[in-house]
Amino acid sequence: MKLNEQEMVRVSKELFTDGLPLASEVYTRLPSGQFILVGRKDDKSNLSALHLMKDDQSELYVSSEDYSKVVKHNVSLIEKTLKNESVSPLLKMNLLKGVAESAMSDIVKKEVFVGSYERCKQVVSFVQESVAQLKNFEKFIDVFSKMPGDQVSHSLATSIVSLMICERMDITMKSTIEKIVMGAFLHDIGLKEIPRELLEKPRLQWTEEELHYYESHTLRGVEILRDIKEIPSDVLSIVLEHHENALGLGYPRRIRDIKINPLARIVAVAECFVELIYDSNKENIRRTPEEAISYIENVMGQPFNKPAFLALKNVIHTTHMQKKLRAVG
Ligand SMILES: [Fe+2]
Repeated sequence: MKLNEQEMVRVSKELFTDGLPLASEVYTRLPSGQFILVGRKDDKSNLSALHLMKDDQSELYVSSEDYSKVVKHNVSLIEKTLKNESVSPLLKMNLLKGVAESAMSDIVKKEVFVGSYERCKQVVSFVQESVAQLKNFEKFIDVFSKMPGDQVSHSLATSIVSLMICERMDITMKSTIEKIVMGAFLHDIGLKEIPRELLEKPRLQWTEEELHYYESHTLRGVEILRDIKEIPSDVLSIVLEHHENALGLGYPRRIRDIKINPLARIVAVAECFVELIYDSNKENIRRTPEEAISYIENVMGQPFNKPAFLALKNVIHTTHMQKKLRAVG
C-alpha cells in the first residue's frame, strides 16, 4: 500500500520510550518522499531502530487514523510516570517534552498555522529552558504532574497561539516571550483543584455556584505557583488575569484593558481562541480557526485587547489564504 503525505502525521521521537510497546505502526520518510514501516504496533519500541538515519533529522510518522490513539496512550503514560516518585525529575522532564511535542501535533494537524511543527518545537524548548532555570525545578514538576492529561494539550496550544500573536505584534524580546509562553503554559494550573466531573459537564448546565467555583481556578493557580519563588510576577499576573477582558466583563476582578497586565491581554485572547477550536466548553461544537475568529468578533463582540486580537486574526487569515492557494495549485 502506498502511503501519501495527507494520510500521515509527523510525531516526536520522544513519544517512543525504549522497551515499551508501540501504540501503532510507526513510519519514517525517505528523502524520496516514500514512507517505510520502522515499527509494528505492540512491538517493543527500540529507539535505535526507529532512528534509522542515525541523525536528528530523521522524521517519524504515524497514520492520521492512529494519531489520536498514540497521543492518548502517551498522555496516560506521562500521567503515571510523573506521579511516580522513584523516577528522576530529569527523566520526567524528557517525557514531558515528548508529550508536549505530540500534544502540539494536534494543532499542527488542525493547520492553524503554517509551519506549526517548527513552532511547536520552539514553544516546547522555550518552556523547557524556562523550567530548567528554576531552582525549584522538582517542585514545578510536582505541580505539573497533577495537571489533568488533556490539559497539557490545551496549555501548549495556548502557548503556541500566544507566540504567534507576539510575532505578529513584533514582540521580540526573548525574556518577554519566555514569560508569555510560560504563563500561557501554566495559566490553567488552578484547574487541578476543580473536580473532574464539573470540568466534564457542559458549561450551559452549570449552576451559579458551580460557575463561581470554576472561576476560582485563576486565584487557585496563583496560590499554587506562589510557592515556586522564581516564577516571575508577570507569569503570576497571566495566571490571575487570563479570563479578564478589555470590556471589564471577565473574572476574577472585572478589570478593563488598561489595568490588565499587557502579557495577560495576549494570553487571554489566545486562550479563548483555543477553547473555541478545542470545544473546551463541551458544547459539542468544534470550530475551525476561521469560525473561532468570526465567533469572537460576531457573537462575543470582540471583548479582547484590540491589537492582540487583530494580530491573531491576521495570522489566521494569512494561513487560510495559503491553504486556499495550496488547494488551487
Ligand atoms: Fe482558565
